[in-house]
Amino acid sequence: MDFNESVTKINLARGFAAECQAGARYQFMSKMALKDNQKFLSDTMKTLAKNEMAHAKLFYDYIIEKGSSKNIAIEAGYPFESPELKTSLLGESMIELSEAKNIYPSFAKIAQDEGFTDIAKSFEMVARVEETHHKILKYLGNLYKSHTMYKRNKPTKWKCSNCGFVEIAKESYKTCPLCHLEQGYVIINLEDTDEAKC
Ligand SMILES: [Fe+2]
Ligand SMILES: [Fe+2]
Repeated sequence: MDFNESVTKINLARGFAAECQAGARYQFMSKMALKDNQKFLSDTMKTLAKNEMAHAKLFYDYIIEKGSSKNIAIEAGYPFESPELKTSLLGESMIELSEAKNIYPSFAKIAQDEGFTDIAKSFEMVARVEETHHKILKYLGNLYKSHTMYKRNKPTKWKCSNCGFVEIAKESYKTCPLCHLEQGYVIINLEDTDEAKC
């Protein structure tokens, strides 16, 4: 199928727009988190923003490589979430879930049907990343909302992202005993939780 006549070309443009916007919203959230002295959360949002921009670049490059038109008209609904962290972390987690389970799998199927196997594979792989994003945002969103970012039911390892000091306790120190930076610098372990494997 001619790429310029394909639905896949439009879907790549839609994906590009969505990824750029997610990258922008996550940067807004990163700034909000910093204002709230949540350095780890801010850094996490920056990393997610970087991931989204990498997805945007991938889609952009496909359009440049395979397409001939310089301007693509798209019509789609895009979210305008408030960057307030108490609602936006969980709101964004649901957007990620919809991308992971509905949007990108359907884009992949269309690309496959239209004969663009490489693009279909990329959509599938991006969907897997978005599922991880969903889990991270849901986990952090629930902790943030319930004010339990630095409290657990069992002894947990808390590590300062600035100086590397580690302490095992149910609740993390309010200021680092070694470098004296605030609690927001403590790393939330996203690897060990069932809800946020990444
Ligand atoms: Fe993405
Ligand atoms: Fe994402």
